[in-house]
Amino acid sequence: MVHAILAPMSVLIPVVLGTGRKERQSEKVAHFAHTTISSKGGVVSEFVDVRDYLSSPFTVPSWEEHSEASKWRKIAQEASGFIFVVPEYNRSFPGEFKLLFDSAFKEYANKPVVLIGVSSGKYGGVRAIQHLLPVLHAASMHVLGTTVATPDVGTFSSGEVDAKYVEFLNTITETLIKNIIK
Ligand SMILES: Cc1cc2nc3c(=O)[nH]c(=O)nc-3n(C[C@H](O)[C@H](O)[C@H](O)COP(=O)(O)O)c2cc1C
Repeated sequence: MVHAILAPMSVLIPVVLGTGRKERQSEKVAHFAHTTISSKGGVVSEFVDVRDYLSSPFTVPSWEEHSEASKWRKIAQEASGFIFVVPEYNRSFPGEFKLLFDSAFKEYANKPVVLIGVSSGKYGGVRAIQHLLPVLHAASMHVLGTTVATPDVGTFSSGEVDAKYVEFLNTITETLIKNIIK
C-alpha cells in the first residue's frame, strides 16, 4: 500500500496598510504585523499598500474592469484571511481604505479578519475600528472579536515594541490562523 505524503499547504493572509498619507506612522505597525504573521508556519503574507491601488480617485465598484482593482480582487480571492491596519482619522478610518475595499466584494465573504487600529493618541484607533465593523459585516466578513489597538504610534519602534503588544499580536494572529486551518 502506498501512502501519499501530502505537502502542507500555505494559506495567504495579506496585511493591508490602510492609509496613503505622506508621513503615515501606521506603516511601521503594518510592517510589524506583516513580519509577525509571516513568521508563522503555513502562512504566506502579502503586504498590500493602498498607495499602489489609488490611480482612480473615484470608487471602482466590484463589477467594473480596472487593472489595479483586478490585482486586489485576485489577492482577496486567494486570501484565506486578512489583517487590516487602519489609523483613526476624525474618529473613523481613511477614505483610501474604503476605495480599496469597495473595489471587491464577493472575495471577502466568510473570511476572518483581524483589525489593527492606530493612533497618535491614547485610544489606539478603536473608534476607527468601530466604524469599520458595519462595512466588513456588509461583506459577510468574520471579524475576530478581539482587535489590536496601537496607541502613541509616534513612539512605536518595531525594534523596541512593548512585550505585551508582541504577545498580544502573536496570540491574535495565531487565533486568526486557527480560524482558517481547522
Ligand atoms: C486627517 C487626520 C485626522 C485624524 N483624526 C484623529 C482622530 O480622530 N483620533 C485620533 O486619535 N487621531 C487622529 N489623527 C492622528 C493619527 O492618529 C496619527 O496621524 C497617527 O500617526 C496615525 O495615522 P498615520 O498612519 O496617518 O500617521 C488624525 C490624523 C489625520 C491625518
